[in-house]
Amino acid sequence: MKKTFLVTCIGALLLLVGCRKAVEEQGPQLTADNIDEVISAMTLDEKILILKGTGMKAMLGMGTAIGDTDKDVPGAAGTTYPVPRLGIPSIVLADGPAGLRINPTRKRDDKTYYCTAFPVGTLLASSWDTGLLEDVGKAIGSEVFDYGVDVVLGPGVNIMRNPLCGRNYEYYSEDPLLTGLLGAAMVNGIESNGVGASVKHYVANNQETNRNINNSIVNDRAMREIYLKGFEIIVKNSQPWTIMSSYNKVNGNYTSESRGLLTDILRGEWGFDGLVMSDWFGGKNAPAMIHAGNDLLQPGLKKQYKAIKKAVESGELSMDDVNTSVHRVLELVAGSHKMEDHSSSNNPDLKANAELTRQSASEGMILLKNDGTLPLQNVMNIALFGVTSYDFISGGTGAGDVNEAYTVSLDEGLRNVGFQINDIAEEIFEKHRAENKKAFRKPKGTLAAMRHPYDPPEYLPLPEQIEACAAEADLAVITIGRNSGETVDRIEKDDFLLSEIEQELISKVCEYFHAVGKKVVVVLNIAGVIETDSWKDTPDAILLAWQGGQEGGNSVADILTGKVNPSGRLPMTFPIKLADHASTANFPLEGGSMRILSMISGGKEKPEEEQVRNIDYTVYEEGIYVGYRHFDKNNLEVSYPFGYGLSYTCFEYEDMRVELANDTVDIVVRVRNTGNNEGKEVVQIYVSKLETEIDRPVQELKAFAKTRLLGPGESVELIIKIPVSELAYWDEENDRWIIEKGNYSINASASSRDIRLTGDIEL
Ligand code: BGC
Repeated sequence: MKKTFLVTCIGALLLLVGCRKAVEEQGPQLTADNIDEVISAMTLDEKILILKGTGMKAMLGMGTAIGDTDKDVPGAAGTTYPVPRLGIPSIVLADGPAGLRINPTRKRDDKTYYCTAFPVGTLLASSWDTGLLEDVGKAIGSEVFDYGVDVVLGPGVNIMRNPLCGRNYEYYSEDPLLTGLLGAAMVNGIESNGVGASVKHYVANNQETNRNINNSIVNDRAMREIYLKGFEIIVKNSQPWTIMSSYNKVNGNYTSESRGLLTDILRGEWGFDGLVMSDWFGGKNAPAMIHAGNDLLQPGLKKQYKAIKKAVESGELSMDDVNTSVHRVLELVAGSHKMEDHSSSNNPDLKANAELTRQSASEGMILLKNDGTLPLQNVMNIALFGVTSYDFISGGTGAGDVNEAYTVSLDEGLRNVGFQINDIAEEIFEKHRAENKKAFRKPKGTLAAMRHPYDPPEYLPLPEQIEACAAEADLAVITIGRNSGETVDRIEKDDFLLSEIEQELISKVCEYFHAVGKKVVVVLNIAGVIETDSWKDTPDAILLAWQGGQEGGNSVADILTGKVNPSGRLPMTFPIKLADHASTANFPLEGGSMRILSMISGGKEKPEEEQVRNIDYTVYEEGIYVGYRHFDKNNLEVSYPFGYGLSYTCFEYEDMRVELANDTVDIVVRVRNTGNNEGKEVVQIYVSKLETEIDRPVQELKAFAKTRLLGPGESVELIIKIPVSELAYWDEENDRWIIEKGNYSINASASSRDIRLTGDIEL
């Protein structure tokens, strides 16, 4: 018996070795140095297969059963096609950007595969701290590596054209420079682990409504100065492994089919040498995508294979185009860890990353108002109001939703630092939760979450209940929460605007607490801009906590206690009214969920005469006047300006010097902490072209720097450089950047509406 078994084993082994040999003999094995040789050994079929992902097995239960990822890394978004006879492995692509998104559990496996939910992109951007973004990127990349994933699908760097875009939470700013420099830092951090980032969604993808076919109609100047600029800075400062083209069209062409965008600008002008992949099911014409330079079609469909094959055979698509894209896919694969035969540890340092999350989240939270209530003193018992006080939101929905092991809610965070949570207030909430059990059940799976986003109803305690809390507690905290995400744009009513219950909650809690001399703090656990002007005078302090990842409650507690002095600054404007944004005139205001099926099919295009404005096409009539560029030009009052944020200390700017060096404007400015607490300041450099005939923004952010932690009385000299080339505007007539001669004023500011020191240069 034993003997037979041994013979069988030896036989099997020989067979295996024999087979392997046969495989090896079939063609050159891929290395980073023999890509051309491998390409010449590939059949046409293999080439076409490698240009598309391995497909999507089951759409229902999306997020779990996608192509080969099911046997590789369950819950990843896609994989590339393997060609074993040429030693070409399959690499794994998984979502981000707020951390790695894979399934937390696996069939017949007791181990868990949780990832860290880091703060959302908007919060990270509010730190204005490239070093911090790089650190978070390193940590995200380490989990990507440890879980055997090769490319993480992020960062998301579309411009926040309008506050209602459902995916703004994934994005950084209304300003391209801030977006670009922070995005580059994130990419550098991620890729320092030897894994790739995919910077998305290239480009002018600024609404979710009808996102698969919407045509963004944008003039060239706005494209260059606003929508492309962030990507340009990222490419030039971090050379990402990959970029993801977007779903939408720009001026009539799908971005994934636009050779102008993907080859001429991205590669020709900026020198990008990585790979472009489509967004999932993006684009309509597969051969046109390959010709344009969209090298990898994800997740990959049979009909794309057929279309490419037909186009090659008919000569409509050249073999050169095919080989160029195959080359890029192989370069990506050859540069990945899959070539090293490394087996993933599946054991990331979740503890260390949780600590980084807690710290990084507190760096991007923004103190909007403070009459001296914060940091809290002589407060023990806190009455918490608002559903999200007890059910804090860690991040947005859709592809950017990470499967984390836990989320620290605000009540927990406050308890963790020694506060008591007021019993009466908590009981009122618990009763509300018990009465609305169904609404508090989190939907299972991505599809379910898209259909019925988790959004339990808010509650308003009775006046006598609030009065009882005010008698017992030392302070009230009201949390206003908002959830948003992929496939759905937000709406004005009950979302941008506070609901009636929320307005009442703020006014009643303030009324009863103030009546007995107690303070009220509002915490905004939101991911996009809301209206603040009508109610901001009522509470005593407002903390914009954003969505801080899984340690959110702890990070807020660190700020409320003063352990961390807030140093976040707004990366976008908080307008008085939604309509104050120029883009609101041309934005879908109805919201509404997209039909899931149209996500897969790409949706149906309508004949021109049936097309509906803001749904089928959106005219970016405001041109370059996005965000503060618009508010400044039109002298509009805002609720909180771009770049704004308070601190528990104050800073003075001293001794500014501005000099024109060879090809840079060099600025030196000293920042002194003149208050009583240690803190960090963000110096923002805005440049204005004086006496110009050209229609230019009043000022534009051209550089920024965050100080280290400065003790009371301490100062630091910051040296900031702006490349002269960055002072250019895009001349549409001549299709090129122009640097105007003459005088420029260079302002060192604490926000876009708080100029501290000013200098000038003459070009
Ligand atoms: C999203 C991308 C995401 C991809 C893969 C798409 O629906 O737009 O951001 O990376 O799916 O999940």
